[in-house]
Amino acid sequence: MPAPWEIRSVRWRDLPALRQAFAEAFADYTDYIYSTPEQLLRVGGALLRKFFARVKDDLCRRASCLAIDPENPGRVIGAASLAPANGAVRRLPENATQLQPVFVVPGWRRRGVATALVSEVLGRLWNAGQEVLISGCSDYNVVSKRWHLAFGVTEERRYYARRPLFYWARNELWRRAYLQKTRGIPFEPLDRAKLERWFMALADELDTLEREEPWFDQRQASSESQRVS
Ligand SMILES: CC(C)(COP(=O)(O)OP(=O)(O)OC[C@H]1O[C@@H](n2cnc3c(N)ncnc32)[C@H](O)[C@@H]1OP(=O)(O)O)[C@@H](O)C(=O)NCCC(=O)NCCS
Repeated sequence: MPAPWEIRSVRWRDLPALRQAFAEAFADYTDYIYSTPEQLLRVGGALLRKFFARVKDDLCRRASCLAIDPENPGRVIGAASLAPANGAVRRLPENATQLQPVFVVPGWRRRGVATALVSEVLGRLWNAGQEVLISGCSDYNVVSKRWHLAFGVTEERRYYARRPLFYWARNELWRRAYLQKTRGIPFEPLDRAKLERWFMALADELDTLEREEPWFDQRQASSESQRVS
């Protein structure tokens, strides 16, 4: 059965419809929860300007795709756009591309649109000789994480995706201690010990993940040169 939507390359004249779809798709997104619709339009506009600033035959532009409502050819229902990822890659292969971002408007979700978009993007990258597509997702963005895992990604834990969990755990320790003190709700020693053990393990994990980030050596080098001078 053919898909009930059209997938095609992104064109300059799609900009207004893409910006509108971006604002709709990210309205319920964890990172933008306090943004107004106008702010989301601006965020989407800035991202798209960067995208269209690339030359027309740049691979990121050629391989990016959008999906169109079959009953309304002017309406974008989702997109998978690309940006170079070299700066974010530490291990080989150095020449990789990243999804930035993939999104589908709420009324079209769970019908396979994102899967179809990213499959098409992967096919185009493969035909152009690229074997790696990177996509970032925070641990707390459950929907996005589930989509990525269902798509079959190889998960690699990175510093920025795990760091919010550390702050959540720290807050939870404070919250439980506060509830015990002010409301008499017991924070059982065993529960406390378990949470603290997890918190310490998370701190160690973050130290390791931070050292693996591409920017870590540069930051160390610049703070050492400041100490010397
Ligand atoms: C994440 C997103 C792109 C998924 O788009 P979609 O078109 O609904 O995804 P698909 O229909 O291709 O989903 C494929 C599979 O992913 C998983 N999945 C997708 N959405 C899910 C959800 N809300 N809850 C649980 N699993 C989900 C399921 O396994 C699904 O298969 P199923 O429907 O047969 O169970 C969409 O929800 C979205 O735009 N979210 C807001 C923007 C965003 O978070 N983008 C990612 C930025 S990192």
